[in-house]
Amino acid sequence: MKLPACRILAASLLSFSLFIGGCSNSKPAQSLSKSQAPEVSWQSDGSITPKEYSHQQVLGDLVVYSRLAGDHACFGLQAPTKGWIALGLGSEGKMKNADILIFTLRNGKVEGEDSFSSSPSGPHPADLSQGGTNDILELTGSEKDGVMTVEFKRKLRTGDPYDKDLHPGNNTIIWALGSNFKFASRHLQQGTGTLALE
Ligand code: HEM
Repeated sequence: MKLPACRILAASLLSFSLFIGGCSNSKPAQSLSKSQAPEVSWQSDGSITPKEYSHQQVLGDLVVYSRLAGDHACFGLQAPTKGWIALGLGSEGKMKNADILIFTLRNGKVEGEDSFSSSPSGPHPADLSQGGTNDILELTGSEKDGVMTVEFKRKLRTGDPYDKDLHPGNNTIIWALGSNFKFASRHLQQGTGTLALE
């Protein structure tokens, strides 16, 4: 028996609206980027001040604040987590050959590690343990109302073979959030993004 055209149309509309409704709980796929001229000087004090950074980027639950300062890049990272926060520079697919800067707060004290993953799926031992150097400078951190904030800076070019160069303008990054303070633990969220340095 032939179905009338209007019943076919109604069934198609219903399946389409179920499809849309089913997707509405998923998180937006990245990323809101805001830029402004920074009007206050950068200070590593574990607190992000309005107009301290030139760029603000939302990546999942992570907000990345950035600004260029001569031959250094200044960073503020903020996420609602009790675990670790990480940025990866110069990845060649997943985590392969990524320069990983990873941070946590343990008993209220900030910890950071400049590390390097040679494989797409980790691990990422500290540069120091591989014969490189720790190039995270002026690291501070704080926690307020369940939100962790870290601030630090890094030279654009460190000269360490376990680091990747940064440059003014857009830099491709990877990022991830972990569930606890152990840097070797797996991520809960991860992705790729663009880091703007101006
Ligand atoms: C020791 C800690 C970590 C472990 C055990 C781990 C493990 C893994 C594994 C098993 C994969 C899947 C690889 C595959 O499909 O071949 C992966 C992918 C990935 N990881 Fe990690 N990871 C760790 C830390 C990190 C960190 C610190 C970052 C960010 C800086 C990161 C970013 C990523 C990204 C972007 C991907 C690709 C995901 C995708 O393809 O959708 N990981 N990781």
